[in-house]
Amino acid sequence: MEASPKPMNILILGAGGFIGSNLIAHILKHRDWHIHALDLHGDKLAQHFPHPNLHFKQGDMRGSHAWIEEQVKACDIVLPLAAIASPATYVQNPLSVFELDFECNLDIVRLCVRHNTRIIFPSTSEVYGMQAGQPCNEETSNCITGPIHKERWIYSSSKQLMDRVIYAYGVHHNLPYTLFRPFNWYGPGLDNVWENAPSNRVIATFLHSLLHRRDITLINGGAQKRCFLYIEDALEAMMRIIENKDGAATNAIFNIGHPGGEASIRGLAETMLELVAGQPGYSNIRNEIKITSTPGGDFYGAGYQDINTRIPDISHAIEKLGWQPTTSLQDGLVKTIRYYLDQKR
Ligand code: UGA
Repeated sequence: MEASPKPMNILILGAGGFIGSNLIAHILKHRDWHIHALDLHGDKLAQHFPHPNLHFKQGDMRGSHAWIEEQVKACDIVLPLAAIASPATYVQNPLSVFELDFECNLDIVRLCVRHNTRIIFPSTSEVYGMQAGQPCNEETSNCITGPIHKERWIYSSSKQLMDRVIYAYGVHHNLPYTLFRPFNWYGPGLDNVWENAPSNRVIATFLHSLLHRRDITLINGGAQKRCFLYIEDALEAMMRIIENKDGAATNAIFNIGHPGGEASIRGLAETMLELVAGQPGYSNIRNEIKITSTPGGDFYGAGYQDINTRIPDISHAIEKLGWQPTTSLQDGLVKTIRYYLDQKR
């Protein structure tokens, strides 16, 4: 535990999600900062409730304006992490994505402007859209999305517009901000793999199938690629952004991803199958399940469109934050699989 001269106060909204719950566990373990947290659900945080530095409120952002404003005024940093980040929902309920990811969070951004509180906001790798194989760079890459009837892009567009709004508040109203762009983070607490949830992201979806000995479904053959970043590496980047040594993260945008963690979705499925086969009780799984394929439109709906490759250029994070990932995809997947299996032991 590192003691600070004056412990920071951090407000985290959407604190009970994948990023929030992992970040809070990490901060409580390694720092003496106070966390003021809000979420609809507290299950992933319940083990930390007795901790004196965690001040958790269960509730909806939408009905908590007065409480949020009080915290924004009193805190050093605000992390608005509440968001829908599931491609199935982008296609099936796009307005809910716009309402939460853009409209609700715009209120928080404006409160930060009003009280001049530093905001660290989750942008997304999806703002880059359909890049043609080049690593995505914060300063030079274009943001390329599909036609309006491809509703998948409402998430990318909502996040991109928020990036532009925050940037403009930074330039024209001196809002201190950092935008970070997760590239397919994964690890313990990603999603509930024991339930068949359409909103789960790919690693959780495949794990759900594998642990239940069901076939894996690849979308459109699985040749599309992603770069996967293990959550512990991501948390190290987050800590450097929060601590902001020498102002390195002030009014900056960072891709936080692992160029070396690239895999095709088919390759990911095959690797995960092998790794699960190495776990007690699953040695026969190669004979029990098949890897199948289905069109994206059948799986998600007609508004789905995919991204073929998405590689982060992390030179900015290396240079400014002195950060780079160290966990291989193989090692991160093993840790993730063991975490979920341990939940049932
Ligand atoms: C994700 C989500 O938009 C966000 O969670 C997030 O902001 C962003 O990427 C990120 O973390 O960088 P995507 O990578 O397309 O987007 O989402 P996944 O659901 O994880 O799917 C990855 C790939 O696997 C897609 O090509 C998808 O079609 C494929 N997939 C997914 C399958 O082949 N089978 C499945 O059962 C599920």
